Amino acid sequence: MKDKIVITRKIPQPALELLQARAEVYMWDSEEEQIPQDVLLGEVQDAAAIFTNVSDSINRAVFDASPFLRAVATMAVGYDNIDVAEATRRGIPVGHTPGVLTETTADLTFSLLMATARRIPEADRFVREGRWKSWSPMLLTGQDVWGATIGIIGMGRIGEAVARRAKGFDMSILYHNRSRRPEAEAKLGSRYCELEELLLESDYVILMAPATKDTRRLMGEREFSLMKRSAIFINTSRGTNVDEEALYKALKEKRIWAAGLDVFQTEPISTDHPLLELDNVVVAPHIGSASIATRTKMAMMTAENILRGLSGDRLLHTVNSEIYGR
Ligand code: GLV
Ligand code: GLV
Repeated sequence: MKDKIVITRKIPQPALELLQARAEVYMWDSEEEQIPQDVLLGEVQDAAAIFTNVSDSINRAVFDASPFLRAVATMAVGYDNIDVAEATRRGIPVGHTPGVLTETTADLTFSLLMATARRIPEADRFVREGRWKSWSPMLLTGQDVWGATIGIIGMGRIGEAVARRAKGFDMSILYHNRSRRPEAEAKLGSRYCELEELLLESDYVILMAPATKDTRRLMGEREFSLMKRSAIFINTSRGTNVDEEALYKALKEKRIWAAGLDVFQTEPISTDHPLLELDNVVVAPHIGSASIATRTKMAMMTAENILRGLSGDRLLHTVNSEIYGR
């Protein structure tokens, strides 16, 4: 009997074909709608592998419902949607896709930074709404990017790729990370500092940390109050790293200048979310890695992780490599 793979969302055709050549595939055939929990719990009963993504929760109930599961892989670098401890307890490898999305996500982070600093979405609305009367000295004036100080919280691969872009804009680069990264300091001229100093000194505060219990609500009222009034906050990591109410207050009361957000505490956010009332907020719907080329690579890598898991081989990138005993 062929192994069954459950795919929780419609994925690019080449990745689907790769899997169909080797297994029976159930795919939730929607690009936007989430698979209902009861459908997922039903389909995984005889599944050998699950191909998932950022928004579909692979929790304890899913593991309980799938006694034959041998591999889980997510089409993402972040894996906070998966109960990894539960997978590890059952000896099931969990795969993810670091590396292939680094530069693309750094591009989005920098675009959000620039769009927020120079108020591009507001300017676009201004023109479309017929409000453009003439050239005007202080019309839609924003903040300079070049030569400013950028503070990167979380100097992983993506943080480094953002720093490389910042270097091209002659920015001073500060970073905060769990551990110091001497090679990133030497290569990029970045300077390590404590979070408090980073917040006090930076014109741009970029949150790049993964979602863990240590980073939950890392940015709260106190942190926003330390930032400069002219400073801009960018988050392309996870919404749970931020106290959204504190962020809203800081923006509303102009205690910080603006924010660019690709991620939210609850996704999707509703159109009546208070943050969307504010002109000094630029938003995107969690599209950090969304280039055609990169999303295709991520899907192929996830498929490869699944196939390796089914063959009992080590995945290309395993989150819980302790299951292999090293
Ligand atoms: C997307 O957010 C990812 O973790 O890849
Ligand atoms: C992601 O690849 C990171 O390590 O930042």
